[in-house]
Amino acid sequence: MSEFAIRPASPSDAAALVALAREVSAEPEGWLLSAGGTRGVADERRYLRAVRRSPHAAVFVAEAGDGAVVGRLSLARDPHPASPHVADLGLMVAKTHRRLGIGRALLEQAVEWARGVGVTKLELHVFPHNEPAIRLYERFGFEREGFRRGHFRNGGQLIDAILMAFEVPR
Ligand SMILES: CC(C)(COP(=O)(O)OP(=O)(O)OC[C@H]1O[C@@H](n2cnc3c(N)ncnc32)[C@H](O)[C@@H]1OP(=O)(O)O)[C@@H](O)C(=O)NCCC(=O)NCCS
Repeated sequence: MSEFAIRPASPSDAAALVALAREVSAEPEGWLLSAGGTRGVADERRYLRAVRRSPHAAVFVAEAGDGAVVGRLSLARDPHPASPHVADLGLMVAKTHRRLGIGRALLEQAVEWARGVGVTKLELHVFPHNEPAIRLYERFGFEREGFRRGHFRNGGQLIDAILMAFEVPR
């Protein structure tokens, strides 16, 4: 099954998105922060309701041909008053649906959202061992901007991250 569609998330996707986040966070490779990083369904529903009206944040989902939610893209504008042109993104694709072009399609959606709200720079953090994601980002045109030592706390551990950025073409 390689058919999928990208669409804005709706509050009714909350349970599916929480399940997806829990599933991907539990993968032993540690692609995402696992400790306390995911919201409960009620909080997720509230967040999805709030971002639907916001020019500062957005959530999109990838829906498979059978209607299952198999990917998520989250975007949030930088809160610094001097950086309204910058937004941070995060994405994940269900293990069962990887290497089908969904990650790339979510990045294309991020660029479209950025153009629509006047964001000219997209940035993200990725763990140094996450080669699949780094390949995806580099192939898309993201460049490494920095190395952030001990930038995230995961349980009792501090974790490094690579900072990557993409200049949105006009
Ligand atoms: C990273 C991730 C989002 C990629 O999603 P995806 O839908 O599989 O990516 P795509 O199918 O669009 O891949 C596009 C390209 O990225 C590269 N790529 C993706 N996964 C790769 C892998 N496992 N190994 C090597 N290259 C890979 C390839 O160049 C690929 O093109 P190709 O399949 O034609 O060779 C997905 O693996 C994922 O959700 N991982 C767990 C969560 C995560 O790491 N999120 C990012 C946190 S920063």
